[in-house]
Amino acid sequence: MEKTFLMVKPDGVQRNLVGEIVNRFERKGFKLVGAKLMQISDELASEHYGEHKERPFFGELVDFITSGPVFAMVWEGENVIKTAREMMGKTNPAEALPGTVRGDFGVTVGKNVIHGSDSPESAEREINLFFNETELVSYEKQD
Ligand code: CMP
Repeated sequence: MEKTFLMVKPDGVQRNLVGEIVNRFERKGFKLVGAKLMQISDELASEHYGEHKERPFFGELVDFITSGPVFAMVWEGENVIKTAREMMGKTNPAEALPGTVRGDFGVTVGKNVIHGSDSPESAEREINLFFNETELVSYEKQD
């Protein structure tokens, strides 16, 4: 079954949005198979955002994502990668529709509350970067 990596960013944790965000994906019907509150190191942040290394905002990105705890999650379900991206809304909250996480709770493109993998390749890479195999749980869930 398809899996994706989602992360409530430091602004979302600070604003007590972890429960709200978990709730949205639970109600949708996806299965939570891994979760942890963690502090990201500079090394992990640089690796995670490696594809943005040349962007002018890379330093800002690393500073922000390491500025406080994040809530890292792995969710499982049919088409979960694409559907979760739709539920998150556009990267820039100003363009994200109401009803999406960023449309409802975000204001700026840097502090946009949530991160989610954008492809099967990045989902696999990000899950392996943040979670050990032993931290992921396999279980049956009623629909
Ligand atoms: P995310 O999905 O975590 O992946 C890359 C992040 O870069 C993105 O969310 C935004 O938060 C951030 N980002 C994109 N554009 C800018 C920008 N112009 N300035 C600061 N951060 C940005």
